[in-house]
Amino acid sequence: CGIVGYIGHRDAYPIIIKGLQRLEYRGYDSAGIVLFDGVDTHLSKTKGKVEDLKKKSESSISLDGKLGLGHTRWATHGVPNDINSHPHYSNSGDLVIIHNGIIENYESIKKALIKRGYSFESDTDTEVLVNLIEEVKKKEGVKLGKAVQIALNQVVGAYAIAVFDKNKPDEIVVAKLGSPLAIGIGENEYFIASDASPFIEFTNNAVYLEDEEMAIVRIGKEIKLRKIKDDAIAYPDILELQLNLEEIEKGGYDHFMLKEIYEQPRAILDTYRGRLLADQGIIRMAGIDQNLEKFLNANRIIIVACGTSWHAGLVAEYIFEDLARIPVEVEYASEFRYRNPVITENDVLIAISQSGETADTLAAIKLAKEKGAFVFGVCNVVGSSIARETMAGAYTHAGPEIGVASTKAFTTQITVLTLIALKLAHEKGIFSNSKYHEYLTELEGIPAKVQKTLESNALVEHISEIYKDSSNCLYLGRGYNFPVALEGALKLKEISYIHAEGYPAAEMKHGPIALIDEQMPVVVIATKKGHYEKVVSNIQEIKSRSGRIIAVVTEGDKTVKELADHVVEVPETSESLTPLLTTIPLQLLSYHIAVMRGCNVDQPRNLAKSVTVE
Ligand code: G6P
Repeated sequence: CGIVGYIGHRDAYPIIIKGLQRLEYRGYDSAGIVLFDGVDTHLSKTKGKVEDLKKKSESSISLDGKLGLGHTRWATHGVPNDINSHPHYSNSGDLVIIHNGIIENYESIKKALIKRGYSFESDTDTEVLVNLIEEVKKKEGVKLGKAVQIALNQVVGAYAIAVFDKNKPDEIVVAKLGSPLAIGIGENEYFIASDASPFIEFTNNAVYLEDEEMAIVRIGKEIKLRKIKDDAIAYPDILELQLNLEEIEKGGYDHFMLKEIYEQPRAILDTYRGRLLADQGIIRMAGIDQNLEKFLNANRIIIVACGTSWHAGLVAEYIFEDLARIPVEVEYASEFRYRNPVITENDVLIAISQSGETADTLAAIKLAKEKGAFVFGVCNVVGSSIARETMAGAYTHAGPEIGVASTKAFTTQITVLTLIALKLAHEKGIFSNSKYHEYLTELEGIPAKVQKTLESNALVEHISEIYKDSSNCLYLGRGYNFPVALEGALKLKEISYIHAEGYPAAEMKHGPIALIDEQMPVVVIATKKGHYEKVVSNIQEIKSRSGRIIAVVTEGDKTVKELADHVVEVPETSESLTPLLTTIPLQLLSYHIAVMRGCNVDQPRNLAKSVTVE
């Protein structure tokens, strides 16, 4: 979910609506807004997108007010409908809240509140929380801030909340545990949001709350921070933001996803800029340099991540084992955290996350830290929870990724992990100097090759036209390109809703081959290096069952061209770097097919970009 709040001298409505639109990547099942016009509050909420909310609000409520809260929801408790949308009022109607996260013990609190005469309109845990705050406030006779603090000490779960009392409309109380919360500080005004994008055109000064911190933002007063548990005063660390508006807008592209696909040459370059000094034979990464011994003495590296980031982890497994000869295990964070894993002090855990907020990944990090592992983060969002929770790390520097389907985050994650693996391989003396130089130079040349690969866009669009009505699709690859097949399949299913499966090419004959007929498109990654001949055999197996073959091949390939229905070429590069190129046509394929099927590419149904619940 995404939350936005404003208190100050400007009209809150446009700030909140625009802010919510920027946060829609965090969920878009429903949206809501509350405004205080100086006398009373006005609430509007609806199932659907912020655009629907805008229409509804503009025709149904007064839009006046210099104080307001807004919410865009990814449903956890209760179906996405108008009633379950946030904001939620307390029973008296005085308090109003927005919440991102989950209150796990809400059922028992709800029961206790019902006994005390409270009633509930919605099925949400959030409505329970706001009433708990109200109950505490009344019973203890305390101010709102104190009531929030006492109530939060009774709940179990994760939250980023903002709440105000219409009888005291000069302040908003916010608190955080597990879900992100940023406060933008302007002149006599405050902004509240899940990330800084809603207020970037108003102020560059922001405070990111730490877990278990709360703040009271009050007009004309400096921001006040406290620890929720023991009430200790915390001192705000005011950051100067680097984000600019252009980066979070579409810049002429039809969709953020296409923009982000096309940004990859630049993004990969930004990832290695200042780190890769190919002509001097140096890789410089502070997070690695300062912890080199940890990596060199590691028994193994455990990689934890979710979704596309997990696929980047799988590519990294090949890279680390092949180049740096370090054993690697790649785990879904959600499985790792709950399966009592064996972790020792000699393990290095690398957590990969675009958003840096994924709840399961964050929990896996905490677990590994408890067990004494060295924990390293690979995140895109600067200052995110995972970036802060890890002991060291390397940012991907891809710039904001807004499209829900991850593209440039994936290739930049692979770039960072490649840099690390190459550095470790070099430190371990695995390569000769000339081999090392060769790798560095090759990596340096990748942005230009990605650019070249993007030239296949028109061809891929044409192929998409042919297969857009398929109901299934198989993706095959071997070695380094097996994870690319998984990622290609994920991209297609998440944005076009076509069922797609990725498989190691050789495993096809142990199951998926049964699905192949003349209707079935099979995307095969068959680049020259690696297991080329083996993949060619696999292609022959598909062909003899009349499957339709779309192959991604190395420039100039002849053999596969004769067998496949369509080929898309990528420039030649070293085997370990091929995923950075072969993934590009697969991104474009899913993009075009989704557009042709009329799907909402940037905001596919049921998904969210940042999953801050487990
Ligand atoms: C969500 C997104 C995916 C993403 C995954 C992990 O499911 O829709 O695109 O790969 O979360 O997110 P992270 O921010 O941790 O990389």
